[in-house]
Amino acid sequence: KKSVDDINVKGKRVLVRCDFNVPLQEGKITDDTRLVAALPTIKKLINDGGKVILCSHLGKPKGEPKPELSLAPVAEALAKLLSKEVKFAADATVVGENAKAAVAAMNDGDVVLLENTRYRAEETKNGEAFSKELASLCDVFVNDAFGTAHRAHCSNVGITQFVDTAVVGYLMQKEIDFLGNAVNNPVRPLVAILGGSKVSSKISVINNLLDKVDTLIIGGGMAYTFMKALGEEVGNSLLEADYIDYAKEMMEKAKKNGVNLLLPIDTVVAKEFSNDAPSRIVGRGEIEADEEGLDIGPKTCELYADALKSAKTVVWNGPMGVFEMSNYAKGTIAVAQAMADIDATTIIGGGDSAAAVNQLGFGDKMSHISTGGGASLEFLEGKELPGVVAANDK
Ligand code: 3PG
Repeated sequence: KKSVDDINVKGKRVLVRCDFNVPLQEGKITDDTRLVAALPTIKKLINDGGKVILCSHLGKPKGEPKPELSLAPVAEALAKLLSKEVKFAADATVVGENAKAAVAAMNDGDVVLLENTRYRAEETKNGEAFSKELASLCDVFVNDAFGTAHRAHCSNVGITQFVDTAVVGYLMQKEIDFLGNAVNNPVRPLVAILGGSKVSSKISVINNLLDKVDTLIIGGGMAYTFMKALGEEVGNSLLEADYIDYAKEMMEKAKKNGVNLLLPIDTVVAKEFSNDAPSRIVGRGEIEADEEGLDIGPKTCELYADALKSAKTVVWNGPMGVFEMSNYAKGTIAVAQAMADIDATTIIGGGDSAAAVNQLGFGDKMSHISTGGGASLEFLEGKELPGVVAANDK
């Protein structure tokens, strides 16, 4: 793969596609992880004397310039992080008069940020005209937006057809290396931990990982569909009735492949979905009709921590319980702690899992926390990501 280390950008206009799709509350960025993660590539290009033009989408403005989804706050935050001016080109058309003038006036090492690429309706359709407009701004294209790599849009895929040089940035490289090695070339034993509320959103991940892992640990809301598939009562717990047969199939596949598939052996249940509701711990098949499972129980925490002890590579996606409520965060904390304690490559999928790990204070204890939610999931499904494929075409 060609990366920013393989090109000479001195005096050249370099367009860098980043994933600056950050959470905003009243115009303030509430989590700047994705900005910080983009800095190594940006700094490298600045130091090498490139004219660094940054672009990204933010939210889903659906082709309409929505002021609350402007990238202006990102320009400000980046300027602080870089201790350097980041000129914001406020064009509703993204590649408009402001952008063109700002780029024309750039000196080597300057930084310009374009407006939200999804202000243009063509962006998500991967249209040719907008791809060409973006390409016309630069001599070299760098794709560092791993979080967007599962989309085929103008600013990460279409543009590569109209530039001579397209390479990946450090963040993209790092994500592909960690996730790719974990799935395709792992130091074994390889253990995957899957949680979160729905089996349906992880069907292909489970199926693909059962061909790769030595142990698959299941927790969170999706575990109840598996318990039901074993004929156990799950009361009011999350259940996807349409996926009971699928869960059965996956358990058979695990057996056939010699994968150690672990399900919770005890569960924290309550009659209400509330942190203050009286709760109790029950064994398998002991959930009453008016109770719902909200976390894995203490015996399960031990079982899972034990299973992780000998692991050399661990991939985790999805919390073990309703970790946002302190009384149901113990299972998620136990798994994070077990991962922090072992001498292994530990990888956290983006989205909810990354949020949980950071929020619970284990952020710096993991080998890699992905910046891609949907993208890391599709990667674990074994899919080729269009953003990755396109950037490697040249
Ligand atoms: C993400 O946050 O997962 C990426 O930025 C992709 O955003 P999207 O789901 O709006 O395409």
